[in-house]
Amino acid sequence: MFNLILFGPPGSGKGTQSERLISRYGLKHLSTGDLLRSEIANQTLLGLEAKSFMDRGELVPDEVVIGMIRSALDANPQAKGFLFDGFPRTKAQSEALDTLLSTRGEAINVVLALEVTEEELVKRLLNRGLTSDRSDDRDEQVIRARIAEYHKKTTAVADHYRQFGKVVSIKGEGTVDDIFDALCGEIEKRKAA
Ligand code: AP5
Repeated sequence: MFNLILFGPPGSGKGTQSERLISRYGLKHLSTGDLLRSEIANQTLLGLEAKSFMDRGELVPDEVVIGMIRSALDANPQAKGFLFDGFPRTKAQSEALDTLLSTRGEAINVVLALEVTEEELVKRLLNRGLTSDRSDDRDEQVIRARIAEYHKKTTAVADHYRQFGKVVSIKGEGTVDDIFDALCGEIEKRKAA
């Protein structure tokens, strides 16, 4: 069992690298952003509630995303491990995740934190907004609000796991292949430990 958090600000490459990592390591990908967008597409009550927060670049309330992750964990009892992408995003979410995993006799093995400058993040997301249907990529103000939420609430997640020696920083600028190799190198080290 190997449980990994791919951590980093909006646009740091979490989704891009997650796809490659789950394919290499056979992990189950849990992206709260994807789960929320699927709720919105299906016009569920949860999706309707979440959409207003997401369109403003704000975090969706903790209890909503924790409930989604609880259901996803319950639905995958046989998983070889999970790759958490975009979750946890607050200290309360980190503590809830630790509790949920411990009831399965598991824990987070490593937090890989992608480091990218703010100007590069804005550039990437504005660029993606030209072709994607993500409403939160179209407006620079909303992109900057998402980054501000990250600094205000989400960096606490790294602080939480740093106290257990589980955080490794990875340069998130450069080619996708080089960043993938660096992420795999850290995973291999932890798996061998
Ligand atoms: P979420 O869907 O998680 O989005 P995000 O964190 O804003 O991250 P992104 O998906 O925008 O970026 P990414 O890091 O995955 O980068 P990507 O690989 O796509 O969250 C959306 C919203 O949902 C939140 O704002 C919040 O409202 C809500 N939400 C989600 N989870 C929540 C939670 N736990 N609690 C509360 N609310 C929650 O890459 C970005 C772009 O860069 C792409 O175009 C890509 O092609 C490009 N790129 C990738 N790597 C490189 C590279 N090395 N060089 C150049 N370009 C690159």
